[in-house]
Amino acid sequence: MIMTKKSEDLLVDINTIHPNKKKLEMYQTPENYNSIKINIEREGIIEALLVNRKTNEIISGNLRYQIAKDLKIKEVKVIFTDIEQEEMDIKSISTNQQRIKSYTDILNEINFYEEHYKIKKGQRTDLNLELKKIKEERDEFLKAVPRDTRDKIKIIDKMASDLFGKDSKKYKSIFSSLDNQKTTLNGQYQTLLDITKRKHNESIVPKTYDIKSNWTTIYNKSSEEMSEIESGTINCVITSPPYFQMKDYGTGKEQIGMENTVDKYLDNLMVIFKECYRVLRDDGSCFVNINDCVIGGKYQAVPHKFLLKMLNLGFIFNDELLWIKRNPTYTRGKRSVRSHEPIFHFVKSEDFYYNDEWLLNLEDPKSSVSYGADKTDPKVISGLDFREGVLKTNVSSTAELRKESKDKRGFHMTHGATFPLTVPTICALLTTKEEDTILDCFSGTAVVGEFARKNYRYFIGYEFKPEFVLASEVRLIKIAPPGAGSFGQNARQEFLEDNVYPQWEEEKKANKIEYNPPKEIFTPEQKANWEKRKHRFIPPDKNS
Ligand SMILES: C[S@@+](CC[C@H](N)C(=O)[O-])C[C@H]1O[C@@H](n2cnc3c(N)ncnc32)[C@H](O)[C@@H]1O
Repeated sequence: MIMTKKSEDLLVDINTIHPNKKKLEMYQTPENYNSIKINIEREGIIEALLVNRKTNEIISGNLRYQIAKDLKIKEVKVIFTDIEQEEMDIKSISTNQQRIKSYTDILNEINFYEEHYKIKKGQRTDLNLELKKIKEERDEFLKAVPRDTRDKIKIIDKMASDLFGKDSKKYKSIFSSLDNQKTTLNGQYQTLLDITKRKHNESIVPKTYDIKSNWTTIYNKSSEEMSEIESGTINCVITSPPYFQMKDYGTGKEQIGMENTVDKYLDNLMVIFKECYRVLRDDGSCFVNINDCVIGGKYQAVPHKFLLKMLNLGFIFNDELLWIKRNPTYTRGKRSVRSHEPIFHFVKSEDFYYNDEWLLNLEDPKSSVSYGADKTDPKVISGLDFREGVLKTNVSSTAELRKESKDKRGFHMTHGATFPLTVPTICALLTTKEEDTILDCFSGTAVVGEFARKNYRYFIGYEFKPEFVLASEVRLIKIAPPGAGSFGQNARQEFLEDNVYPQWEEEKKANKIEYNPPKEIFTPEQKANWEKRKHRFIPPDKNS
């Protein structure tokens, strides 16, 4: 029987009783140890210890026993009771619900209950009083620890053991940093999930993966050197560098954004924007979406410092647009929630290409994007408020791309920091024509490439994470090349289903993606048309 037969308190010599082994294995010294100790020192042990009569083992009160020993107390109040060992383990856990538990304690309890309860599974608890009691105690524990917490602890335990082994130092350090509140449950879960996904990706994603087709080229390399591009040939750069200390893309120490200081970060960015300056035509434009962050209670003035450095490179500061967001992340401190990100527009000369005539055909009754209600001479307004749905997308959800990458290609797309298609759309419509070339030197999953492909522009991207180039392919392959029209779109879908997706399926099963990027797909008429429009860089002096 689990129920204990109560008897009188007795004062016994502390050396005649001993702690419960199970409990010693399961629980760590709790956080509130010292405050309990101070109380006991002042008031003595008020509640008697529950002790197994047969074995003299403590069922409830192990902590009080430990403190009494610490304080050199010689005699303690005890209630003796008769129970079996296994019941005793359960009893000893269930009488322990008051103590402040570490995550390790909770994990041990979960394991204990799962193991114990499994043995008895299938038995009718309503017919078996003993079992009913165990179930109640388990349920009490389950109630005390929220389901989400239990699930997270279990999954952290599983991921950490799979990755590093249960006996490893690393496994222990994960739980000790949780117990010492150096990391949060969610933070640790996210970190381990990322490592698990990266590890899986390592086995399936090729080390390098370029996309080379007529309209779309993505180099899987760093853009600090863009030797593939002739000087003065790009019409427009639209880009969004990794933000300062905001996201670890898991690409090692040399990745931009993880530098210790803003100055170092900006120096690294300037190497790339110097290259952008070189490849940009004299009548070209360069749009950069860069954001600020609060560190140590203050804004780092990243966009402002960036702007000054760009001026030093020789760029002219032409315009500043603000991307206004519907769902900003919370900003701590005595300041507003930052719901905008600046997009700087730089040029090389005052004689740059600019066209806002397309605004005449834009349906924008609430003037979310344009100024000039009569539409005789509309202009874009700087606060780009897409919330009314003008130009459609207002959120950059990568959920669909993530799902497709997993379902179709079998890899995890981690941490895509994409902007909504509307952002490059406005920049590019203002400053490029059909058949112009747009560059994104931090191409990510190629949102800029998507605009280009849908709007008769050539696209060149640089992205050093192969997984993002693969995700770009998943995104872009579905869009028929420029000029294909709606027929092209249907033909493309058929082609993908007959040829490309089955091959992807095989690679997914084999857990190895081959470097075999599909070529453009043409009907004979399209092919003739394409040949004519084959991409070539047009130097400024031969401008058509
Ligand atoms: C903010 S994200 C850009 C996202 C992109 N605008 C999109 O919509 O998908 C920045 C990207 O730059 C990449 N990156 C960082 N340093 C790079 C470098 N030196 N060369 C090329 N790509 C780099 C990162 O891997 C990341 O994908």
